[in-house]
Amino acid sequence: MTASDDSPVPDFLGRLRLEGRSYVVAGAGQGMGRMTAHALAQAGAAHVVCVDLEEDRAADIARELDEASGRSVAIPWVGDVTRREDAARLGAEAEAATGRIDGLVDIVGMARWQSILEMEDETFDWEIDICLRHAYLLSQELGRRMVASGGGTMVFIASVSGLTGAPMHAAYGAAKAGLMAWVQSLAVELGPHGVRANAVAPGTILSPRMDAVFTDEQRAANGGNSPLGHMGETADIASAALFLTSDLAAYVTGRTVVVDGGVDAKFPYPVTL
Ligand SMILES: NC(=O)c1ccc[n+]([C@@H]2O[C@H](COP(=O)([O-])OP(=O)(O)OC[C@H]3O[C@@H](n4cnc5c(N)ncnc54)[C@H](O)[C@@H]3O)[C@@H](O)[C@H]2O)c1
Repeated sequence: MTASDDSPVPDFLGRLRLEGRSYVVAGAGQGMGRMTAHALAQAGAAHVVCVDLEEDRAADIARELDEASGRSVAIPWVGDVTRREDAARLGAEAEAATGRIDGLVDIVGMARWQSILEMEDETFDWEIDICLRHAYLLSQELGRRMVASGGGTMVFIASVSGLTGAPMHAAYGAAKAGLMAWVQSLAVELGPHGVRANAVAPGTILSPRMDAVFTDEQRAANGGNSPLGHMGETADIASAALFLTSDLAAYVTGRTVVVDGGVDAKFPYPVTL
């Protein structure tokens, strides 16, 4: 207490803690999803439901999480979150296994590289499905349960490709822009029920999937494009997801946090003086 301010000072680091809470991480098998599962477990989450399309990946991250935390925290779950029946089964089984779903971090999404003039209908529809429509399914199936139990948090992984022009992956950029619009409406509609919804927009992140396809030249070019001089790591995205999930972000909803090493912040002057 000071002479002019007697408002109580909270335990800020305590606001980061997730003890007693249960989370679903969609796409937990590798990359940003794997790191996010670890971030939530390290912050004390009681349960982390590790969702993946691939059974061995779901089992592997669950094993790793339990070993790293020294607790029985992980619940492996196998299914395809782009399918309504799987999304519904996930909601029901995650709630039955954990008691209540306090939050979702949804990492699932992927880009196919095609020019607009050459793009196939199947590519456009696939991008909308994998980046946007599945988020609608999870928002409904998990959101209904969060509203019924008094609140929760949702974090979706978008992309800077949805904030800027996305050459060669326009459908992906359009779908991610839709996802960022989606969290705003989610926040407005579900806020009165205690549910917060946000997005993280990564820049170029050296995930295992990108690592496998990047040439040395592409690594150098992408790293040099950032004012920080390097590409991001999957842990950088997991850190933002943890912040948005935690009570440190208790008054943050409907927003997108850009984690791109400043790439989107700079105007590319064609001439340097
Ligand atoms: N890496 C980057 O540079 C970058 C940049 C911007 C945005 N992103 C976004 O980050 C997210 C993923 O990043 P990553 O490279 O760490 O992940 P990834 O694609 O390597 O892994 C995602 C995991 O999700 C699983 N998965 C895929 N489809 C699924 C489905 N239908 N149902 C359940 N599980 C499914 C996969 O098996 C995999 O284990 C995506 O949304 C991507 O669009 C990545």
